[in-house]
Amino acid sequence: MVVFWTTFLSLLAIAYYLLYKYMTRNFSYWKDRNIFYFKPLPFFGNLLPMITMKTTMGELIMDLYRQTDKDYFGIFSLDRPVLVVKSPKLAKDILLKDFASFHDRIIVTPDTDPAMSNLMFFKKGQMWKVIRSKMTPVFTSGKLKAMFSVMVDESNDLSKYLSKFVGAPSIEAKEVCAKYSTNLIALTAFGVKAKCFDNEDADFRKLGRRIFGTSLTNAVRQLGCNFFPGLIKTFGIEFVDTVAREQMKSIFSTVLKARKQSDHHKSNDLVDILLDARAHTESGISDDMILGQAIQFFMAGFESVASTISFTLYALSMDEEIQERLRLEILENIEENNGLTYEGVNSMKYLNMVISEALRKYPVLPFLDRECTSTYKVEGTDLVLEKGQAIYISAFGMHYDEKYFPDPDKFDPERFSDKNEINKEGFYYTPFGEGPRICIGNRYGLLAVKVGIASILSKYKIRKSLKTPEKIKFDPKSFLIQSYGGVPIKIEAL
Ligand code: HEM
Repeated sequence: MVVFWTTFLSLLAIAYYLLYKYMTRNFSYWKDRNIFYFKPLPFFGNLLPMITMKTTMGELIMDLYRQTDKDYFGIFSLDRPVLVVKSPKLAKDILLKDFASFHDRIIVTPDTDPAMSNLMFFKKGQMWKVIRSKMTPVFTSGKLKAMFSVMVDESNDLSKYLSKFVGAPSIEAKEVCAKYSTNLIALTAFGVKAKCFDNEDADFRKLGRRIFGTSLTNAVRQLGCNFFPGLIKTFGIEFVDTVAREQMKSIFSTVLKARKQSDHHKSNDLVDILLDARAHTESGISDDMILGQAIQFFMAGFESVASTISFTLYALSMDEEIQERLRLEILENIEENNGLTYEGVNSMKYLNMVISEALRKYPVLPFLDRECTSTYKVEGTDLVLEKGQAIYISAFGMHYDEKYFPDPDKFDPERFSDKNEINKEGFYYTPFGEGPRICIGNRYGLLAVKVGIASILSKYKIRKSLKTPEKIKFDPKSFLIQSYGGVPIKIEAL
C-alpha cells in the first residue's frame, strides 16, 4: 500500500510539474521583448478575475488599461501572450491601414459542425474575404430603405405590446426589445414572421434565449471560444449548444429550401442573396456556408439591437432632461413628416447623439480582437509582431478614458454633437469595430435602434422602477455586454 501511495504521489507531482512547466513556458515572452506587461499567474495568466467570475473580460482589460500609460502592453490569456493596444493610432493601423497583416480574429470554433464553423465572425483568411464580399450587398442603402416600412410596422407592434405594461411596477426592457429585434431580423432577413409579441415562447425567441442566455454552460462555451482556443479545439466545444444549433439548422434550411422551390418573386433579402451566391458555383460557397451565414445574421442581429435599445432606455430613465429633449425632437419630426420616415429618422441629430453615447457606455463588444497574420513592425518602435500574435483593442478602456471622454461615467450625448471630432487622432470610439472587418450590419442595426427608440418615446415616458440599478453591473458569464439581472424600467403613457 505504501509503495502504491508513494508511486501515485510521485506521478502526481511529476504531472503537476510538467503541466506547470508547460503552462508557464511563455511567461518570459514580454520580458524578452522588453515590453511592459502585467505579471501572470501560473495556469491562469492574467485572467483569474474573469475565470472566477469576479469581473467581465471587458472590465478586466479596462482595469489593466488604466494601470499603465504605455501605448501597448502585454498580458497572458492562460499561457498565450496577448498584446493589448492603448494607442488609437496603433488601433487604426491594425484595424484599417495595415489590415492585410491583421485580417483574422482570435476567436475559434471547432471544425466539427460544418455550418457553425462557417459563421462570418469566425471565418479566417481568404474564405472570410469571399463570404464577406458575397454578403456585403445585404444592407445597401436601397435595401435599408425598402426594409424601413417593415421596421416601422414592427415598432408599432412593440408600442402596442408595451401598452399592456403601463402602470406595471417594473418591466424587463431587454426581453421586450429582444422580441422586437427578433421579429425584425426574422422578417427582413428571412421573410418569416417570428410572432414574438403574440407568443411568449415563440420558437425564434426561445432560440434567442438559449443562444445568449447567461447560463454557466453558455459561459463556458462562449468565453472558451474567445479566450481558451486551445481547449475548445481539443475538446470540440461549440459556441452554441447542440439543441440550439440543430434548431437553427432546421429552421433556416427549411426557409432556404422553401424559397428555392417557390416561384415566389424575389424579395431581394438575405435569403435571395444567399441563394444567388450558392448558384454561382465558381464562388466556392457551399451549402454549409450558406446555412452558416443565415445563422450568423440571426445571432448577430437580434442580440446587439436589443442590447443597444434597452441600454439607451435605461440611460433615458436616469435622466429626464435628456429624455424630454429627445422626445421633443422625435415628436416634431413625426409631425413634420407625417409619421416616421426613412429620411426623417436619419435627420434626427439628437437621437443619433443619444444612441452614440449609449453605445459608448455600453458597447455590445467591449473589446475587439485580431490575430497578426504576417510579421509586422510597429511604426516608430522596435516592436515586431510575429505571425499568430493575439491582439486586443480595449473598446471599453478607450470609451471610458478621460483623455477622449472627460467625466466618462456621465451619460452626456453632447460629446457627439460634432461627429467630425470623434476618432480624429486614431480609433478610440469603436462600437461597431472598424476597418474592413467592421460590423456588416451596422447601418441596419443603427436604423432598427433608432426606429425602436423613436416609436417608444413618441408614446411613453421611461421611468426608473424600484428595481432599476443606479449603475449597471455587467454579467461575467457573457463575453458580450449584458446587464446582470436584465434592464428593469417602468413606463407611463404620455
Ligand atoms: C447596434 C447593433 C450592433 C452592434 C453594436 C454591433 C457590433 C459589432 C461589432 C463591435 C463587431 C466586431 C467588428 C470588428 O471586429 O471590427 C460586429 C461584427 C459583426 N456584426 Fe454587428 N453589431 C450590431 C448589429 C448587427 C446586425 C444587425 C447584424 C446582422 C444582421 C450584425 C452582423 C455582424 C457580423 C456578421 C459581424 C462579423 C463581421 C466580420 O467578421 O466580417 N451586427 N458587430
